[in-house]
Amino acid sequence: MTELALLIITSAGFGRHIPLSAFSSSSSSSTAPAAPSTANGTPKAPAPTATATATASSDLSLPPPGFTLPFVPALLAAVRGMNLQSLMRQYPLVAHLPLAEVRRVKTAYAELREYLRGMVEVTRAEMRAEGFHPHALSHSRSRDHEAGAGAEVEADSAEPEPELGEQRAPGTGARIGRAGKGAKAKGAGGEEADLFKLLIRANEEEEGREKKLSDDELLSTTYVFLLAGHETTANTLAFACALLALNPRVQAALRAEADAVFPHLRAPEDALASYREDMPRLKYAEATFRETLRLFPAEVRLTKRAARDTTLRGTVLSTGEKYDVPVPKGTIVWLDVWAVHTMTEWWGADADEFRPERFFDTDDYKWPRDAYMPFSLGARSCIGARFATLEGMVILSHLVREYEICLTPEMEALPLEERKRQMLSWSIGVAIQATGAKVLLKKRARV
Ligand code: HEM
Repeated sequence: MTELALLIITSAGFGRHIPLSAFSSSSSSSTAPAAPSTANGTPKAPAPTATATATASSDLSLPPPGFTLPFVPALLAAVRGMNLQSLMRQYPLVAHLPLAEVRRVKTAYAELREYLRGMVEVTRAEMRAEGFHPHALSHSRSRDHEAGAGAEVEADSAEPEPELGEQRAPGTGARIGRAGKGAKAKGAGGEEADLFKLLIRANEEEEGREKKLSDDELLSTTYVFLLAGHETTANTLAFACALLALNPRVQAALRAEADAVFPHLRAPEDALASYREDMPRLKYAEATFRETLRLFPAEVRLTKRAARDTTLRGTVLSTGEKYDVPVPKGTIVWLDVWAVHTMTEWWGADADEFRPERFFDTDDYKWPRDAYMPFSLGARSCIGARFATLEGMVILSHLVREYEICLTPEMEALPLEERKRQMLSWSIGVAIQATGAKVLLKKRARV
């Protein structure tokens, strides 16, 4: 699922069509050699000449000259090494430990940075050909970098490189959010611009303009999008598969809807869905994706810091009594998404059950919008929520249309509660990880 979600986000968001074959080497990330290093053990960035062609190469399963990792393994290794990367930033001495894992994660980040720089250069050249006039992507320090936003100073590095994914300058997300949340952005030639081009255009703003996205922010934000766009979706889909294998009734209902919406599917090219016509009909798929995220929200807890003194208004659910909670400026507030999603007061006595129908409103029932926040709520909520939901609906529908999602023989031998315990097991990573979601896919006979 990780590979599939990554394939979709790179294609849809970044216009990079990575062939599935590129993923066959992704498992090599754990054994790949570390890049050549400088005297203090910092991996050398690949030669700049390799950069521009790195992601344009037709065979993405091989590292281009100057790189040790192909693109996909570099990205996966960076994602999986994110906690170590944060530790290295917090405690710089950790980065100097002579551990293979430290070298590997540093290599992954150094090479991924060059891959992203290459993607920027290639796309910038495409935009130039379309009539857009860019400045050269400067390798010099940006305003934000000079202001200390995420710079890591290496002992022997003349030009400290900021870390990927670690320097979201204030306002960056919101600025992109406005464009991403439905603005009809047009490219230079009047065509609909993709997400990546929007980022590059923001980077092309004149120096000093409030809207300008610095080079570091551009690379960092690209990484955040790739990361936010695939790890969350991939694990949600993995949980959905486990839940569908455990709940044949739900799977049958989902399949009935998919068969009705795509009745004549014969060849893969028939699978191209029409957004306007087909998507509104995939109601059960949407409810199934939502219900999966209710039970397994990718981000189980969210942390916020109060920007100013404020007061929250609470309600005792059993009595309706109101009370005030003073929140002084600087307070760290934890939003326990998982707890809210499983409260019987909001979701009823069967809150722990997998029942997509609870997302269907009726005359006397409206599902509780305020008690559902897998994408967070408000101004800084997920800008990819609609995209992720559509992606989930389409993948689940096509999956059950093509396959029966079954229990493995080992699981069939176990009592129901034990199956659930094992198949729905999880651990906390960048997003909640579906560690036990192993299912058997049986090809359905063509009708
Ligand atoms: C099932 C899939 C997804 C889930 C559950 C999810 C969840 C979230 C959550 C909870 C936040 C708020 C984080 C916080 O407040 O600390 C968030 C923010 C964000 N998400 Fe997602 N996300 C998903 C998919 C995506 C996709 C597909 C993209 C991009 C295409 C994306 C891009 C972002 C970005 C850029 C932000 C930061 C927004 C800002 O700070 O203004 N997400 N996401």
